[in-house]
Amino acid sequence: MKPTVMVTGGAGYIGSHTVRLLLKQGYKVRVFDNLSAGHEWAVGDAELVRGDLADKNEIKNALKGVDAVVHFAASIEVAESVADPAKYYRNNVANGLNLLEAMIEEGVKCIVFSSSCATYGQPEKVPVTEDEKQWPVSPYGWTKLMFERMLHDMEGAYGIRSASLRYFNAAGASPDGGIGELHEPETHVIPLILRRIRSGGTFTVFGDDYDTPDGSCVRDYIHVDDLAEAHIKAVEYLLAGNPSEQFNLGTGNGTSVKELVESVKRVTGRDIDVKIGDRRPGDPPMLVADNSKARRILGWEPVRTLDDVISSAWAWEDELLRKG
Ligand SMILES: NC(=O)c1ccc[n+]([C@@H]2O[C@H](COP(=O)([O-])OP(=O)(O)OC[C@H]3O[C@@H](n4cnc5c(N)ncnc54)[C@H](O)[C@@H]3O)[C@@H](O)[C@H]2O)c1
Repeated sequence: MKPTVMVTGGAGYIGSHTVRLLLKQGYKVRVFDNLSAGHEWAVGDAELVRGDLADKNEIKNALKGVDAVVHFAASIEVAESVADPAKYYRNNVANGLNLLEAMIEEGVKCIVFSSSCATYGQPEKVPVTEDEKQWPVSPYGWTKLMFERMLHDMEGAYGIRSASLRYFNAAGASPDGGIGELHEPETHVIPLILRRIRSGGTFTVFGDDYDTPDGSCVRDYIHVDDLAEAHIKAVEYLLAGNPSEQFNLGTGNGTSVKELVESVKRVTGRDIDVKIGDRRPGDPPMLVADNSKARRILGWEPVRTLDDVISSAWAWEDELLRKG
């Protein structure tokens, strides 16, 4: 029989895509989510425990019979983390520690963690390898790095093995339109461009005087279903008894914001007004993953293109309109 996996934050964007794939591959899945930002409809056929990581007893109850944890639950907005850092240290670090303590007490030894390229801050070398210095530029990034550090220290002392997956820019939706990104507020660039197209508004490019080929920021957009596949590989890797590791998850291809706008226009067949705004503080000029470690050790390969990302996200925006 396939193992049982508890997915914290499984009602959220990346979590729900991973839950779907785990179920499809025969895993027993228990979602642990307080629905503060997630959606019950996103959980599908998985068991849903409405619980909060602030409550260690709730976590311990949900961990009964679990073989591995995939930990997505967190507060995720960089700008909000600057305005209200206490919320981020509370939810992402202190509540995260509750999860680790509950795992220790329940004897659950494997965890896959949603880390972020935000832990690198302003990387010196691009494409970014896992050896790049980690020096975040936002409280959000620091909370992710602190959790990585806790995992590092927990292994020696309590034998918890972990895979920290440092995502670059997660994007896209499931191709059947069933689930996709729905954040409130939405801060991610692809849904923002698509919504501007719908509303006929103007899309602002933040800065076009960076040291990049066309002056706008370059990012690495990774399809959420490719991310989901990496999580399954990471669960298998840990359950096979392998040691803790950190992996960058990106495509390895950089796309500038201006190139992204052109691709969106081509894929959707729609036009959009664009204006150039000021730079945003803390935005690194280029964030592109060197993903060779995940390819080599996990046997993971991202296969979806930027056009797949855009077309699936566009179809998902249609679905959201239908859902009202
Ligand atoms: N979206 C990206 O591009 C990106 C990039 C790098 C890292 N990440 C990380 O990936 C993870 C998932 O991101 P997402 O975009 O799917 O976010 P999301 O907000 O869609 O999902 C997070 C889920 O966690 C739940 N949650 C939050 N706090 C909780 C708590 N205390 N107890 C129980 N449930 C709680 C929310 O209800 C939500 O369902 C996060 O940890 C995020 O930091 C995301």
